[in-house]
Amino acid sequence: MKKHLTHEEINNLDRFPKVNLMNSVTGYKSANLIGTKNSEGATNLAIFNSVCHLGSSPSLIHFTLRPHTVARHTYENILSTKYFTVNQVHSGIIKQAHHTAASFEESVSEFTAAGLTEEYKTDFYAPFVRESAIQLGCEYVNTYKIKENGCLLVIGAIKHLYFDEHIQDSDGFLNLEKAATVCINGLDEYALPKPLDRFEYARPNEAVKSKILK
Ligand SMILES: Cc1cc2nc3c(=O)[nH]c(=O)nc-3n(C[C@H](O)[C@H](O)[C@H](O)COP(=O)(O)O)c2cc1C
Repeated sequence: MKKHLTHEEINNLDRFPKVNLMNSVTGYKSANLIGTKNSEGATNLAIFNSVCHLGSSPSLIHFTLRPHTVARHTYENILSTKYFTVNQVHSGIIKQAHHTAASFEESVSEFTAAGLTEEYKTDFYAPFVRESAIQLGCEYVNTYKIKENGCLLVIGAIKHLYFDEHIQDSDGFLNLEKAATVCINGLDEYALPKPLDRFEYARPNEAVKSKILK
């Protein structure tokens, strides 16, 4: 028997049961750390579960930012310097990654506080997370305000991509199992997904075929 909640019943739930429920109803999300550095050189790192692919040509990503009604260091640094990094979280750094969600003062670097390592390369302004197997160096493109709730949709262009070579399959695909990349349910559960299959391109009148990589 399935439990049924209406729009009104959801709205009337207590704050935390509602947050926990509504953050998990849309399924597992990606786990990424966004690295930035302000114009004075202070670094910042924060966990985001809303980073998503937006297109391959040009290669764009987006993430969702909560309403900018309080200090949002990641976003403020991106606006003032134009650069940020996106670093995938793997199973070996979930505690450190989660710690970055705490509201630290701007003068405190979450890299140091959480125990992760800043990495600089290709003269890129923003810090990468050395421990991450997959790292993107992004340039800020645009922000769209979601008028329904004040959230911001932030778009970035991928300028640099780094990944451990052994995790790439022969068709270009990144094997995230080899990278031990985790996903997030809600705002506090980190999980290790188990790949089940990959499929050939779906066509209307053909049975779905498993893909066997050469
Ligand atoms: C699992 C998890 C996922 C999160 N995802 C987001 C997100 O997608 N967008 C957002 O605005 N905040 C998100 N947060 C909250 C930020 O990590 C948190 O506000 C952080 O302090 C932001 O730091 P900053 O002010 O240095 O940017 C998330 C927190 C957790 C624990």
